Order: sequence, then structure tokens, then C-alpha cells
Amino acid sequence: MDIPSSPGKFKEKRTKWHKTLPKLTFWSILFCGVIYFLFFRTPSSFSSDARRSLRTYTYGGAAWENKVISSARVASKNGVSVLVTGAAGFVGSHVSIALKRRGDGVLGLDNFNDYYDPSLKRGRQALLERTGVFIVEGDINDAALLKKLFDIVPFTHVMHLAAQAGVRYAMQNPGSYVHSNIAGFVNLLEVCKAVDPQPAIVWASSSSVYGLNTKVPFSEKDRTDQPASLYAATKKAGEEIAHTYNHIYGLSLTGLRFFTVYGPWGRPDMAYFFFTKDILKGKPIPIFEAANHGTVARDFTYIDDIVRGCLGALDTAEKSTGSGGKKTGPAQLRVFNLGNTSPVPVNNLVTILEKLLKVKAKRNIMRLPRNGDVQFTHANISYAKKEFGYKPTTNLETGLKNFVRWYLNYYSAGKKADE
Ligand SMILES: NC(=O)c1ccc[n+]([C@@H]2O[C@H](COP(=O)([O-])OP(=O)(O)OC[C@H]3O[C@@H](n4cnc5c(N)ncnc54)[C@H](O)[C@@H]3O)[C@@H](O)[C@H]2O)c1
Repeated sequence: MDIPSSPGKFKEKRTKWHKTLPKLTFWSILFCGVIYFLFFRTPSSFSSDARRSLRTYTYGGAAWENKVISSARVASKNGVSVLVTGAAGFVGSHVSIALKRRGDGVLGLDNFNDYYDPSLKRGRQALLERTGVFIVEGDINDAALLKKLFDIVPFTHVMHLAAQAGVRYAMQNPGSYVHSNIAGFVNLLEVCKAVDPQPAIVWASSSSVYGLNTKVPFSEKDRTDQPASLYAATKKAGEEIAHTYNHIYGLSLTGLRFFTVYGPWGRPDMAYFFFTKDILKGKPIPIFEAANHGTVARDFTYIDDIVRGCLGALDTAEKSTGSGGKKTGPAQLRVFNLGNTSPVPVNNLVTILEKLLKVKAKRNIMRLPRNGDVQFTHANISYAKKEFGYKPTTNLETGLKNFVRWYLNYYSAGKKADE
């Protein structure tokens, strides 16, 4: 027992205790204030992500379950039931509609985060609703929600497109990439490996895994160990994680390395999208060039070609071999490039946009900053062609024409492009 050596000292301690009470109250209030500030107010890199993951979504109830069941109901004879993560996103919305239209059962999942204007995601959601696709509002890190969805629907496939996209934003909010592209992916795989039957999984990797490679065109056999951004590193990590879950649990996994996807309902953070907005506003647009006036070029791939590639990968995905978390035999593990195979200099992209918009762009030629962008991308697509007949058919002029038509239509209907 902690008895003071003399009663005098004991008395003194009690008096001090009374004196320190206001101080203690003060420090407690300050402590609570700091905790509140750290978790809910700090605009630092990890906090907005933490706020996102702390967000609670309401789900459950008979009406909600009926929507889930009806959306995932297979309508065609050989149809499959697919859980599409990132369904309110650019690629996810297009893929969901294509699957639904051919008679597959489709259920969407998306956390509707505010990385870019969420009203665009709501617009895509409305489009999907009209096609009969319901999007569950939730996070891929929510294991209880994922288990519940698999309890209601024994999905045969997962088309996993939810991710934190964009290379430059990784310097601003690295935590969001770890949250969605690594922790979220692992959480999804944990649920998929445990359910019986296990689904086959097709998921989006990225051409950015080729990083600083200089040998072109990029082939699936090339090295992918020099990523130029955290985004690329998380996608590369995803490919290694996929290998592990395939090896241990017999999950069938197909990774798709998309090359700069563009088209209607696209992503506002991508160059073709914000160039369009800025050209129309008369604002200068940055055109990057590499050292020694080196051209920056991209293998721009039109969304409809990407959708066909996604469906081809899904249709050729073999069943997972595990059961209830245990592997019973080797399972399929694949990675495909999905590109257009004809890189176009960004300068030419701007020239096409000028023609379509009938406005001259103010070009601001700048040195390519070292913030994640690489100088060029170029896909070798022979593997996807061999496995499922992947053959892109849309050139940049045609694809951009469709995009510009959609853009002008969408933003003239009272919607404001974000500042
Ligand atoms: N668009 C491209 O050019 C391109 C290129 C290479 C790879 N990819 C990959 O393709 C996929 C789709 O890309 P996109 O262009 O449609 O991006 P997108 O941002 O439009 O779509 C991703 C969707 O996922 C959702 N999401 C993000 N984190 C989530 C989470 N933790 N839980 C639930 N939902 C979450 C977002 O709200 C968003 O709607 C992504 O994996 C992306 O990394 C895209």
C-alpha cells in the first residue's frame, strides 16, 4: 500500500489534490479537444481517409434485401451473378450496364467517396437504376456487409473495380490508396476465400505497374518492379496479393492492366476531361514534355473496348477451386494488358479536342513533373487477344467525339463542372 511516511505529508497530498482538480479538468478538456481535432477536423493526408472509413452506411431490412435480390437475379439462360465493386465509378458503371443488358445478375457496391465530384457518381447511379442495377452504399473494408451480401446472393463472380485511382493524388492522400487498394482488396479476398462456393474474381490492376520501363510495347512478361507512384505500387502489391490468395486458397484471379481509359461518364481528374473543361473556359492547359523536348504519349483506350475486355476476362475465368477457406486444387491466375496499342502524343489529343470543341486551346508547355506520371504507355495486347479475342476498335477521334457529345450534353443540362 502506498502510505506516506508521515501524516503531515498525507495531509499535504490531500490539499494538493483539491488544488489540482481545476487543473485536471482543464487538461481533460484539452485532451478531448485534441482527440476531436485529430479525428474529425485535421485536413491531413490520413484523416480524410479515416473520416471516410468511419462513415457509417445504413443497410439491411426487407426492402433493402429485396432490392439486392432483384438486382442480382440472373435473367438469361447462361447468365452469371456478379458483384461489381466501384459500380458508381467510370469503368464500373459501364461494365455493370453491359452485364445487366446481356442478362447477368448484377449488384453494385460503392462508397461514393468525394475524390471527385460525387454528383457524377450519383448520375451514374441513376443510370444504373434505370437499367435495373442496385448499388449498395458501403465500403469494401466492411467485412460484415460483404458477408451479408454473399449470404443473400451466392455470387459466381466478383468484378472488383473499386479503388483509389489517380497517380498525383497519392502525394496528397497516401492513406486512401492503402485503405482501398490494399486493405480493401485483402478484406474482399478474405471474404471471397471463406464463402462456399468461392466466386471467380476479375479485378482492375493498371498499366502504371510498368512504371519507369523503357522497352515498348509493354508486355505482361516485362518487369514491374519500378513503380513511379504510390498508386502504381499499390496496384503492383495487389497483383502479389492476388498471387498469394490464389496459391493458398485456390481463388481464381484475373488482373486487368487498363491503359488510360476515356469516354462518356469519365473521370474529371483525367487530362482529356479537365482539358475539355479548361479549353471551354479559355483557361491555359498544361502540356507536359519530357527531357530534351521528349513527347509525352498515352495509349488512350475507349471505354467500350475496355468493357468488352472485362466481359471477355469474366467469361473465360475458371471457377475457384477452394471451398470454405481450403484449397482443393490449383486455380487460374492471370494478368492481361487492356490497351489500344496506338499511343498518341498528348499534344495531338489537344488538337482533336480543339477541333471538336471549335475552340483554340491555350497550351502551356511544361516539364513533366516527377509526381507519378510516366512519359509514355503502350500496350502489347496479344495475350488478351489470344485468350478471349480482345480487339479494340475505337480510335481516339471517334472516342473523343462521343466523349465531347456527352460532356456538352451533361454539363449544359444545368450541371456544373467542378471548379
Ligand atoms: N480509368 C483509367 O484510366 C484506369 C486505368 C488503370 C486502372 N484503372 C483502375 O480501374 C478501376 C476503375 O477505375 P475508374 O476510372 O472507374 O475509377 P473511379 O474512381 O471512377 O471508380 C472507382 C469507384 O470505386 C469507389 N471506391 C473507391 N474506394 C472504395 C472503397 N473503399 N469501397 C467502396 N467503393 C470504393 C469510388 O467511389 C468510385 O466510384 C480502378 O481500380 C482503377 O484503379 C483505371
